[in-house]
Amino acid sequence: MAKSKTTLLVIDGERQNTLHVLSGTQKDSDYKCNWAKLFEESKENVEVIQCGWDDIIHVSCDPFRSEKPNPSVEISLSTLPAREAKKRFNKPSIRVVPNFILVRNEVRIPAKDCRNMLLGLMYSGVPSVNSLTSIYLSCDRPVVHAELVRIKREVDRECTSGLGSQTPECQHFPLIDQVYFSCEHGMMYGYQFPAVAKVGFAHAGAGKMVVKDHVMMEDFQSVLKMTNGQYCTVEPFIDGDEKFDLRIQKIGNDVRVFTRVSISGNWKTNVGSALFGELFLPECSVSGNDASNDVYCHYGNTVDEFLTEVLPKVTAKSFHRYCDWIKLASRMFGGLDICTMDVVCCKDVNGVRKEYILEVNDTSSGLAPFCEEEDNRKIRDLVLGKMKTHKLI
Ligand SMILES: Nc1ncnc2c1ncn2[C@@H]1O[C@H](COP(=O)(O)OP(=O)(O)O)[C@@H](O)[C@H]1O
Ligand SMILES: [Mg+2]
Repeated sequence: MAKSKTTLLVIDGERQNTLHVLSGTQKDSDYKCNWAKLFEESKENVEVIQCGWDDIIHVSCDPFRSEKPNPSVEISLSTLPAREAKKRFNKPSIRVVPNFILVRNEVRIPAKDCRNMLLGLMYSGVPSVNSLTSIYLSCDRPVVHAELVRIKREVDRECTSGLGSQTPECQHFPLIDQVYFSCEHGMMYGYQFPAVAKVGFAHAGAGKMVVKDHVMMEDFQSVLKMTNGQYCTVEPFIDGDEKFDLRIQKIGNDVRVFTRVSISGNWKTNVGSALFGELFLPECSVSGNDASNDVYCHYGNTVDEFLTEVLPKVTAKSFHRYCDWIKLASRMFGGLDICTMDVVCCKDVNGVRKEYILEVNDTSSGLAPFCEEEDNRKIRDLVLGKMKTHKLI
């Protein structure tokens, strides 16, 4: 008898931005990443069901009904792309009992909180990428930052005691100074102005503003009062010459380093237009001969020749440090299979380049458009590897 298929539920509802030419409205377009097609390429016996958090009607689970994890996930068909819906013609919804889950979308966005669905999946114990517990914990920025503080303390302690001097990880972990406030009361911010206030859990540039001085901070407090109990964090606004953002990405053991420079003038490089480039180590550095601090990384051919002049020069030595930071951060919450780290860099008043780690994003991290396909395949292979470990394929 043929072995039954393993069901993989992929939570990735992102669509292609196809506009209906005549009506100007959004078409019932395909998913941006067709995971069923990607897994078909692997020739493994895996059935892929793809949907967004929004498409899930309910999750129920009785862990004692079977020895294996058995969440019953009911998915609405009305919002799934036409092709997917046609396959299950005439059914308003389908019931799925996934053996494994891949999550690629935020569980909690300002417009919708789907943590009740996530809790059901966690209850069942179904394995996933990233781990469901880490996804739950990553729903609040301060929880992630608390882990970064813990890692920084550990690195600092190892470095001062000399314990870590043998390892490349014994580098300064330059986490930004940040203060947490549960609400508008008692907001005593003691670091420098201008500052950046970040309200609540929001990502993608939302809920953040630059606060010029104490007077503006009072205004900000009065607005925070109207947010119905949202927490906020405040940190110095990092600015200076040769400013750029780094995005360090880790998928399994694969690390990539990208740079982002704003061209639209927005202080947030993830809002408006930005130049995006990938950094590559010079050959000699890949083979381990990178002792010199003058060996510069080069940019991938995804960046136009002339743009490389605007983009900052990064040494191979720095590149290795960036890789160490993300490796350290990826150990939080028992391990993050997929994660990205945002870092802002610029020169200080003495002309010395400084880096400040801003945040770590988890499993729903967006990918760089020019290597999206390649990285989605890396995610697929990571998932297949985990499924094998769990003896699901
Ligand atoms: N303290 C800061 N100083 C300078 N720029 C900042 C600061 N905090 C955020 N930014 C800019 O805003 C962008 C978004 O902030 P971030 O903390 O990464 O939140 P998110 O990406 O979740 O919206 C960053 O990539 C960076 O360009
Ligand atoms: Mg960010």
